[in-house]
Amino acid sequence: MTATLAPDDAGIAEAARLLAAGELVAFPTETVYGLGGDARSDRAVARIYQAKGRPSFNPLIVHLPDLKAVEAIAEVGPKARMLAQAFWPGPLTLVLPLRNGAGISPLVTAGLSTVAVRVPAHPLAQRLLRAFGGPLAAPSANPSGRVSPTRAEHVLEGLTGRIAAVLDGGPCAVGLESTIILADPEPVLLRPGGLPVEAAEAALGEPLATGGNAGKPTAPGQLASHYAPEAMVRLDATQARPGEVLVGFGAVKGALSLSAAGDLVEAAARLFDALREADRLAGPRGRIAFAPVPETGLGRAINDRLRRAAAPRT
Ligand code: TXA
Ligand code: MG
Repeated sequence: MTATLAPDDAGIAEAARLLAAGELVAFPTETVYGLGGDARSDRAVARIYQAKGRPSFNPLIVHLPDLKAVEAIAEVGPKARMLAQAFWPGPLTLVLPLRNGAGISPLVTAGLSTVAVRVPAHPLAQRLLRAFGGPLAAPSANPSGRVSPTRAEHVLEGLTGRIAAVLDGGPCAVGLESTIILADPEPVLLRPGGLPVEAAEAALGEPLATGGNAGKPTAPGQLASHYAPEAMVRLDATQARPGEVLVGFGAVKGALSLSAAGDLVEAAARLFDALREADRLAGPRGRIAFAPVPETGLGRAINDRLRRAAAPRT
């Protein structure tokens, strides 16, 4: 059985104890819930892949409490440092050269010489990382190929019975996974996410190159159909066709809306909830249509996830 742990000292102590014993614990971050396991333990990391049903060539993000802890396992180049200082803790993941002898399981990096690291801002994630006292490998806490969880109930829907516990921190404030950047020597955006690309470019004082298009992954495992709901998805819809559930935005009204006010922060926070809700309303072999979302700020990350949801299924 999967335990639900309260967001208090006892819950955090129990989560840290389970992790130290090599068990898996899902925990809230400001982006989405992570499926945490000890990043130093081959066994714990193998269990993460097993619980998610994830192909093992897909590397995981390592979560640490601060930049100092990151420097113990990875080399932080000059541009990475600028981004870390500007946005950590926060919804930013940096891909950095792994240090020799860092002690990270090779299953985490899938054998790459780089490691993806993130310092989450969520107070419960911070408390858990400090109580555990080590690096936590944590992909999003959903079965592979499904929508990322932004509530403890979503985690249980997908993974109950497959993990030891979930630390219940309520809904995630950002609602989209972190922005992934390879900063040095030349900055490349590997995945748009909860940190707007424009903010990263402003901190660096230079544009980010984009690593390929939605269908051609540069972050390994960025499969086009990674965010697939059950229903078929159509984009840029201003009206529902017969039998479709329309998800609105701004002036385009629907059966539900990402943000009736046209607010991108609200839309990002609601996106995965809305995908689940629309999927439920559409029913078996149903169809969902999404209203257009502007391609600026968080809209870039929202549209990236929507294009994946709409991509032909593999
Ligand atoms: O917001 C987030 O980033 C959430 C929370 C839990 O932190 N985590 C998350 O993890 O989205 P996951 O495993 O679902 O996505 C990790 C992404 C994958 O696309 C993976 O390919 C990429 O990070 N990645 C990991 N290590 C990498 C590396 N060394 N080089 C390039 N991409 C890497
Ligand atoms: Mg994921």
